[in-house]
Amino acid sequence: MNIPLIDLKRQMKALEKELTPKVLEVLYDTSYIMGKNVLSFEKEFAAYIGAEHAVSVANGTEGLVLALKALGIGQGDEVITTPFTFFATAESIAQVGAVPVFVDVKRDSFNMDPAKIEEKITDRTKAILPVHIFGTCADMDSICAVAKKHGLLVIEDACQAAGASYKGKKAGSMGDIGVFSFFPTKNLGGAGDGGMLVTHDESLAVRMKAYRMHGSGENGQRAYNDIHGIQEEVKADTSKDNTVYNPLKYYNYLIGHNSRLDEIQAAILRVKLPRLDEWNDRRRALAKRYNDALEDVLTVPRYKTDEGAIYHLYIVQSEERDKMTKKLGEKGIATGVYYPVPLHLQKAFGDLGYRKGDLPVGEYLSERTFALPMFPEMTEEEQDYIIESVRA
Ligand SMILES: Cc1ncc(COP(=O)(O)O)c(C=O)c1O
Repeated sequence: MNIPLIDLKRQMKALEKELTPKVLEVLYDTSYIMGKNVLSFEKEFAAYIGAEHAVSVANGTEGLVLALKALGIGQGDEVITTPFTFFATAESIAQVGAVPVFVDVKRDSFNMDPAKIEEKITDRTKAILPVHIFGTCADMDSICAVAKKHGLLVIEDACQAAGASYKGKKAGSMGDIGVFSFFPTKNLGGAGDGGMLVTHDESLAVRMKAYRMHGSGENGQRAYNDIHGIQEEVKADTSKDNTVYNPLKYYNYLIGHNSRLDEIQAAILRVKLPRLDEWNDRRRALAKRYNDALEDVLTVPRYKTDEGAIYHLYIVQSEERDKMTKKLGEKGIATGVYYPVPLHLQKAFGDLGYRKGDLPVGEYLSERTFALPMFPEMTEEEQDYIIESVRA
């Protein structure tokens, strides 16, 4: 039996009757940039997360950069984050000229250890950037408490956590800004790149809207005034179809980006969003089956915040990872190593001066963790085959 780590074809097949006409509709409508699907999807996503504002962007990495910029983080500032994550988390910090400061993680949740944050705070620290890794929320109560005590901002990297929750609150809704990715393999994935920023703060939403579109137009002007403390009435754009010709587009107030969510992606994501909870429930049920069947042979993910985890990836730990993944591969079962190099030891961050041994838990995990197949459409028969093979 051949079982991939994630099978996007099955989801496509199940949704093809709905997706195909939506995509064609966009093609014939021709409002390809910031069209009605993008605007509606932003509203629907904000309502789903329980945030006041949602600002769509081109991808999660750009989302992180725009979030940092909107919060005024730049050259020389320090941002505390985790080493056990995808590169983009810390890359975005470096992109804005700030310095990522890594705090070790916890063995059970793979998430930032809040007890280790305070010792890393300096007078240059501006923010904490926790990641809800693999779809399990970081310990947000403790992280937000440290942030509040030291007057720091909180950016949640919820790129792997669309629909995850922590004590009843959705991932992305607990910090100053939450950042999501719609990379195709994510629990809510498009047919290409995509991302979203959420916040309860209107002025941050305006800044992010300005930065995603060349710092131009009404949002550019509002953001400029806000940043410079200028009190002035900003005239709304009254042009009827601003996708064809919007004169305000050519007035630029800030140095921004071109980072918009594609209209076709928005149309696709609008079909998928109403199914997200059901898919996440299915992932949780599969994770429970894996846990119950494998806990005596592997270290399985038994998170404290279990109920809210959405198992973007199902990660186990083994002393014999290489042997295990090789044998599983021979049986047709795909596995993946997340993450083989903790970020503080990545070559790209060599000039930060970290050494092996500095963050022992992240390093320990990077030698033992790997993912078993996990996607909502996986059958129990397939899962039983994986379980049998792992046990063998
Ligand atoms: C934790 C984390 N942060 C950031 C990103 C970046 O998202 P994107 O690939 O959409 O740029 C990803 C995803 O790939 C991620 O997993």
